[in-house]
Amino acid sequence: MIKNILLTGATSGIGKAAAKKLLQEGHFLILPYRNEEKATALKKELEAIAPERFDLQFCDLASFESIRAFAAYVKNTYPHIDVLINNAGVWNQRFRESKDGIELTFAVNHLAPFLLTNLLLDLLRKAERARVVNVSSDLHQGTIDFDDIEFRKKEYNGIAAYRQSKLANILFTKELARRLQDEGITANALMPGFIATNIFQDLNFFARLMIKIMAKSPEKGAETIVYLALSPEVEGITGKYFKDKKEAISSRQSQNIELAKRLWAVSEQMTGLHVSVSE
Ligand SMILES: NC(=O)c1ccc[n+]([C@@H]2O[C@H](COP(=O)([O-])OP(=O)(O)OC[C@H]3O[C@@H](n4cnc5c(N)ncnc54)[C@H](OP(=O)(O)O)[C@@H]3O)[C@@H](O)[C@H]2O)c1
Repeated sequence: MIKNILLTGATSGIGKAAAKKLLQEGHFLILPYRNEEKATALKKELEAIAPERFDLQFCDLASFESIRAFAAYVKNTYPHIDVLINNAGVWNQRFRESKDGIELTFAVNHLAPFLLTNLLLDLLRKAERARVVNVSSDLHQGTIDFDDIEFRKKEYNGIAAYRQSKLANILFTKELARRLQDEGITANALMPGFIATNIFQDLNFFARLMIKIMAKSPEKGAETIVYLALSPEVEGITGKYFKDKKEAISSRQSQNIELAKRLWAVSEQMTGLHVSVSE
C-alpha cells in the first residue's frame, strides 16, 4: 500500500537520504522546505526517482504562522497521513530567535514538531495505524530548565540548548504515545547515529573537520527513520527510543512522565496551540 508520508528537513543530510529511500520504497512524500534553492535542487534529485510522488511545500518551522498555514494546506489537500516524521533540526552556537521571538533551537527542534503534530492529529487519525517518528539524539542528557527554557537568564550555551531540545523530543514522544494509546497511532523517537551533515555548520573548523572524518553517512543515518516509518516489526510499538533499528534505553529524565506532562502544558502555552487563528 502506498503511504502518505510527511517528512520535515528533507533538503539536507539525514532527511534527504530518508526521502530518497522512502520514495524508492514506493510511497508518496509531503516535504516542507524553507529554502527555495535547496528545494529546487531536491526536486531534481527526487524527480530522477519518482517524478509524481512528492509534494514540496514552503514551511518555515521557525514560524508558528508558517506551520499553521502549511498544516492547513495539508489538511485541505490530503485525506490522511500515514506517517509523520519530525526530522528537521538545528544546532545554534549563538543565541538566535525564531520569527515568534523564541530561542531558535527550542523553537525549531521541539515547539515546531509539537505544533505540527498536534495540528495534523485528525489526518493521522484518518489513517490506519498511523505512526509518528521523532528524530532525537543520544545527546538528550540533562533536564528541562522550566525556569529558563530559552536561556534568557543564564549564559547561552549551544550544546546545552541542543541537549534540552533533544530531551524534549523524547518527552514529547512519550506523552504523545500515552495520549494516543487507545487510538492505534504510535509514536517513537530515535537516535540516527553520529552523521556527517550540515547540522554542525555553526561549530568551528576543527570540530567540523573531525566530524567529517569520524561521522557516518546520511544514508546510514536514515536507516532507523525508515525502519520506524515502515517496518512491520514495530507495528503497535509506541513510546520507545530506538538506535540502530533496535529499542534502546534513553535517559532517566526522558522517562519522567511528570516532566513530560509539564513540558506538554508549557508547549501548548508557548505555541498557542488552542488559541484559534483564522486559517
Ligand atoms: N547529524 C547527526 O550526527 C545527528 C545526530 C543526532 C541527531 N540528529 C538529528 O537529525 C535531524 C536531522 O539533522 P541533520 O543532521 O540531517 O542536519 P541538516 O543536514 O542540517 O538538516 C536539517 C534539516 O532541517 C531543516 N530545517 C532547519 N531549520 C528549519 C526551519 N526553520 N524550517 C524548515 N526546515 C528547517 C534544514 O533545512 P535547510 O536545508 O534549509 O537548512 C534541513 O533540511 C535533526 O533533528 C538532528 O537533531 C543528527
